[in-house]
Amino acid sequence: MFIKSSLITLALVLSATSTPLVGGVGTPIAFQKRSALTKDDGSLDYRSAAEQVVRDRNKHRQNLLNLERNRGPEAFNDGAYIPPVATLNLTGTSPGDLHARQAESLTDEANDEYWAGTITIGSNKQSFLIDFDTGSSDLWVPSANCTSSTCNGKDKYNATASTTSVHKSGQFSISYGDGSSVSGPVYTDTVTVAGVTAKNQYFSPVMTLSSSFAGEAMDGILGMAYPAISEFNQNPFFNSAKAQGAVKTGVFAFKLAKSGSELYLGGTNSKLYTGSIEYHTVVGSGFWQIGSGKVQVGSKTVVSNIQTIIDSGTTLVYGPPSQVATLYASIPGSKAAGNGFYTFPCTSVPNNVAFSWGGKSWTISAANMNLGRASTTRCVGAIVGQDLGLGKNVWLVGDSFMKNVYSVFSFDQNAVGFATLK
Ligand SMILES: *[C@@H]1O[C@H](CO)[C@@H](O)[C@H](O)[C@H]1NC(C)=O
Ligand SMILES: *[C@@H]1O[C@H](CO)[C@@H](O)[C@H](O)[C@H]1NC(C)=O
Ligand SMILES: *[C@@H]1O[C@H](CO)[C@@H](O)[C@H](O)[C@H]1NC(C)=O
Repeated sequence: MFIKSSLITLALVLSATSTPLVGGVGTPIAFQKRSALTKDDGSLDYRSAAEQVVRDRNKHRQNLLNLERNRGPEAFNDGAYIPPVATLNLTGTSPGDLHARQAESLTDEANDEYWAGTITIGSNKQSFLIDFDTGSSDLWVPSANCTSSTCNGKDKYNATASTTSVHKSGQFSISYGDGSSVSGPVYTDTVTVAGVTAKNQYFSPVMTLSSSFAGEAMDGILGMAYPAISEFNQNPFFNSAKAQGAVKTGVFAFKLAKSGSELYLGGTNSKLYTGSIEYHTVVGSGFWQIGSGKVQVGSKTVVSNIQTIIDSGTTLVYGPPSQVATLYASIPGSKAAGNGFYTFPCTSVPNNVAFSWGGKSWTISAANMNLGRASTTRCVGAIVGQDLGLGKNVWLVGDSFMKNVYSVFSFDQNAVGFATLK
């Protein structure tokens, strides 16, 4: 179902012509960097990719736990269930096709699977490099008291140094498959992103940090989905900022690209896209989830009537294994490579796989479809078959798709929009 984008355009025009009494009427935050799971030599870093799968599965497992606690199991999608904690499994891939490249990855750490920007927390503006995640709803950063070695080299939140810091009751925790977790106490403090400030914002300064975060430049994660999947059961940062009047429009937007990436708070940045924004109504209560989706290969629809969760904090695109198998069956020369990954000949990387929600077809470019080489001749696809427990027909649509579009998230309209990047 469409929402007319003209409604939102009108709202933006109105707020732009009135005097900005408060900050953040359209505030961009630049992202620092982005690279894929592809190494410098063009090969896939399979260990990192497998770690991403485990992390994504456990993130959404925690989201489902939170949703059940906050809203009851009736808030679940058809067929959704809480899966067991996922663990890293590097076996089960065809030899010579996909394999872990541990020896190389030790020396290759410039391999970040996210875009990150700076935020500050506290009266003394403690600075953190943050992954902005539309697929979760909580904020966490390392604590000054973090004892695990994975906190080494990261920015850490010191409660004593901020006069606005308040210790709340409760505990925050996400379990990871390597036996480690991200966990810590619950605090509130002042949080500022690109000049937009939320006071008394719930977050966790974490005492333990999963080993999967060790090699990454980012300090923590700022969730931008709905309050229903918040472990704190509190407003996420952007909702707090909106409720406190720090932004006038409950809209934020992403451009994720090799350069010039940004998150825009309080509207959209018309310098970054052309044409109108195609909006689709959010269904359910927790995720940026839109329905009536289909997957196309060229002019052929290969999977239809799917739900999609648009998740900036997920690198890849995941679909139910049988539907992903159906998709790759339409891609010439493709074959399963284990653990839900597929390969195809590097000489014919598909450039015509698209998602559509009843409007335009939004195509994934060949560059974004290709995660890298598995061998000298075969390349790995960015669409992976995984049952994440999110529901029978639910796809988790991450950066491999988002890089192809300007994406807009509107709490005002409860809609996700896409527009053509300039
Ligand atoms: C690892 O993955 C392979 C292939 O998918 C599977 O056969 C095996 O049971 C898995 N091992 C564990 C411990 O889950
Ligand atoms: C760290 O430890 C100090 C001293 O025990 C305590 O005051 C503070 O609240 C703790 N937490 C953080 C996030 O700084
Ligand atoms: C936290 O800040 C306080 C006050 O500025 C300082 O005395 C203390 O050493 C800091 N603690 C850590 C663990 O950095």
